[in-house]
Amino acid sequence: MKIIRMEHSKFIKYIDSNKPRFLTELFDLLKIPSISSDSSKKDEINKAAAFTKERLEESGVDKAELCQTAGNPIVYAEKIIDPALPTILVYGHYDVQPVDPIALWDSAPFEPEIRNDKIYARGSADDKGQFYAHVKAFEAMSTLGSIYCNVKFMIEGEEEVGSENLGTFVAANKEKLAADVILISDTSLLSLEQPSITTGLKGLSYMEVEVTGPNRDLHSGTYGGAIGNPINILCKMIASLTDENNKITIPGFYDKVLELTDTEREKIALAPFDEEAYKRELEVNALAGEAGYTILEQLGIRPTLDVNGIWGGYEGEGAKTVLPSNAHAKISMRLVPNQSSKEITKLFTDYFISIAPRQVKVKVTAHHGGEPAVTPIDSIAYKAAENAYEEGWGKKPIPTRDGGSIPIVALFEKELGLNSILLGLGLDSDAIHSPNESFGVNNFIKGIETIILFHKHFALLNK
Ligand code: BES
Ligand code: MN
Ligand code: MN
Repeated sequence: MKIIRMEHSKFIKYIDSNKPRFLTELFDLLKIPSISSDSSKKDEINKAAAFTKERLEESGVDKAELCQTAGNPIVYAEKIIDPALPTILVYGHYDVQPVDPIALWDSAPFEPEIRNDKIYARGSADDKGQFYAHVKAFEAMSTLGSIYCNVKFMIEGEEEVGSENLGTFVAANKEKLAADVILISDTSLLSLEQPSITTGLKGLSYMEVEVTGPNRDLHSGTYGGAIGNPINILCKMIASLTDENNKITIPGFYDKVLELTDTEREKIALAPFDEEAYKRELEVNALAGEAGYTILEQLGIRPTLDVNGIWGGYEGEGAKTVLPSNAHAKISMRLVPNQSSKEITKLFTDYFISIAPRQVKVKVTAHHGGEPAVTPIDSIAYKAAENAYEEGWGKKPIPTRDGGSIPIVALFEKELGLNSILLGLGLDSDAIHSPNESFGVNNFIKGIETIILFHKHFALLNK
């Protein structure tokens, strides 16, 4: 079948005249509280999956199905117009993060609302608004009779909890998922003025530690001083994980870190970054940072360690004098090429146990992890993405490295031998995972246009 050439303006017109409906549909999806970490939300998870499947069906796919897994269902759909044409596999996730602290939301997280041209709702940018742009881009191509490539959709419901069952699904369905590229919109752009394409994601090792002292909570006057306080000790242990230059002190931690060449570092420095505006937006007077690396380098290509939560002892109103029996923390490490999540998890565990004083017992457990990923910038797919932005935005996109993780990207490469194109449509200021998450209406609309242009240029370059 030959590629039907069509003026892009026809698509723009279609998107413009259907914009109210596109937004209504997205709102209906955003109203479903599909929080994957909350086991009481199983029905909502199933609702979001069914909703996604139905909208895909209406958009013109040949078939759409709910694939059951040991966890949440995966929505799969496809439109094969000609085996000779290239195939794009679209990946996204319909699950979202929890909403707390709920008091800090200006509008209810699952009652989407547009303010200042932004859609406010949990999941608006991460990832419902972004993957839905692909559904509507496909609808436009299908309705206007200009499908450029075969398309497969795989929209999962466990990304925010580590994609535990997706790996098994991918390994068991290699043929079904066969494609020429994986297209993912689940990252951010530099800005609506300067498009960018994410070319690297970090890996992750997520740990939980428990430090136990005496066999019960004690009076902090009667026992204080004599008995090691698990919270004091945990704090000292955590503090010793980084030094005064913000280097991570775990022995061997940096051994496999791929150092960048000067040319690669120069490329990173090309991305516009306004340090003053960055500080202003977050209301901090100074930035932290690892000695010897710029902020952009730290965000993109250096591994980091952060405490995500710490608890223990008395947290109620007023004061209670208590020397607690135990203390807990959740600690994550973001990893870069060629670090391995498994190895880092082991290094952390051994080291954390080794630095504990004899006054306490330490238990370390690992939560989900994931491997870092880098995508080549000399591939046909990258070139197609570049062309799509050039045609749609009149500007060449800058390759950037993101600090976030989408562990399945490394897995796709391993299992399917496929690289991903991270066509992020959000902005860092979208506040994903935070209160008042938002997604620009323009990001959604421009995103739909850009996705169509990617399909077109990918087909053209593959001819
Ligand atoms: N969409 C994000 C990842 C992301 C966000 C990448 C912004 C780049 C820029 C994804 O949904 C996410 O939140 N991933 C988790 C990891 C997962 C294993 C829970 C993350 O990065 O914390
Ligand atoms: Mn996401
Ligand atoms: Mn997320």
